[in-house]
Amino acid sequence: MSFRVLGTGMYVPPRVVTNDDLSQFLDTNDAWITQRVGVKERHFSTNETAADMGAKAALSALENGGVAAEEIDLILAASVSGESISPSVSCMVQHLLGLSCMAMDINAACSAFDFLLETAAGFFARGKVKKILVIGTERMSRILDWEDRGTCVIFGDGAGAVVLGTGENYIDAVFDVKGGNDVIDIPQPVGMSPFYERGQEKKPFAHMAGQETFKFAVTAICKDCKELLQRNGLTFDDIAYIVPHQANKRIIDFASMKLKVPQEKFYVNIDRYGNTSSASIPIALDELNRAGKLKRGDLLLLPAFGGGLASAACLLRW
Ligand code: UT7
Repeated sequence: MSFRVLGTGMYVPPRVVTNDDLSQFLDTNDAWITQRVGVKERHFSTNETAADMGAKAALSALENGGVAAEEIDLILAASVSGESISPSVSCMVQHLLGLSCMAMDINAACSAFDFLLETAAGFFARGKVKKILVIGTERMSRILDWEDRGTCVIFGDGAGAVVLGTGENYIDAVFDVKGGNDVIDIPQPVGMSPFYERGQEKKPFAHMAGQETFKFAVTAICKDCKELLQRNGLTFDDIAYIVPHQANKRIIDFASMKLKVPQEKFYVNIDRYGNTSSASIPIALDELNRAGKLKRGDLLLLPAFGGGLASAACLLRW
């Protein structure tokens, strides 16, 4: 027993920030961001927390799936930009929805949605649950260094969610972790202990070695997708859509070229939302679903990659 997707949802905060808006206070421009990253605009929270946005995406997924909030047995959430280490984002979403079910977070940065799906599959396999809410939600704006133009222009805020019920539509997944903080690092504030040695603290923002991340990302998408298809006796022709983590349009274009898979097979919306980390795949799924582009039985590949370094790909039947 695994699961099937009953409903999808998303939420982005109302404030839209264009590349021209960023160039008002940062040494950047629309042409550079469009050409190097593929983002035209993103949404930024002015007062909503990651949990607030996650709860709104969850309600939208529940409504889409025709599922009452009280039916949920477990909330699984991910965020690298929640307001507190504890309570977790999932606990705060549970509180906002007025529920009393089990709730827990998983930290796998931009790959987290795939790790959440695999964890959900484990709960279904144990027969412990009938319905699970899975949420990726990010207020990236609060962990960006607004003086680092190589990083802050890439990201956006938002949340995506799916409601899962028992079924057999989650087919397989691959995961790869190469731990270390030399390429991507989002450190916590160092703390006030009078006993600590001082001097080496990194600012508590997202740090990224752009080109190393880029190479890692392209390699990971290609390797993970090929491995997953091969071990399930499938080819890219069998796949209706590849719904990748939206990190950079050029990463997706390079992967498409290396894999010799047409660009139209990759769903892309980074131009409108930027990189929303763990929220990017469920937001993309919700857009595809609500646009009526997914048919029952369609096979979807969901490749993800990011901090950890971690990468993953899931194979899902719609
Ligand atoms: O979610 C997973 C995590 N993140 C990613 O997947 C991101 C992966 N990496 C990337 O997307 C790209 O490496 C970046 C978009 C971050 C950077 O693009 P790049 O083509 O690797 O540029 P670069 O860092 O090599 O910089 C090229 C030039 C530099 O100027 P000089 O030294 O050639 O004069 C930068 O200072 O572009 C400059 N630059 C900018 N110029 C205008 C860097 N950021 C900006 C900017 N606007 N925002």
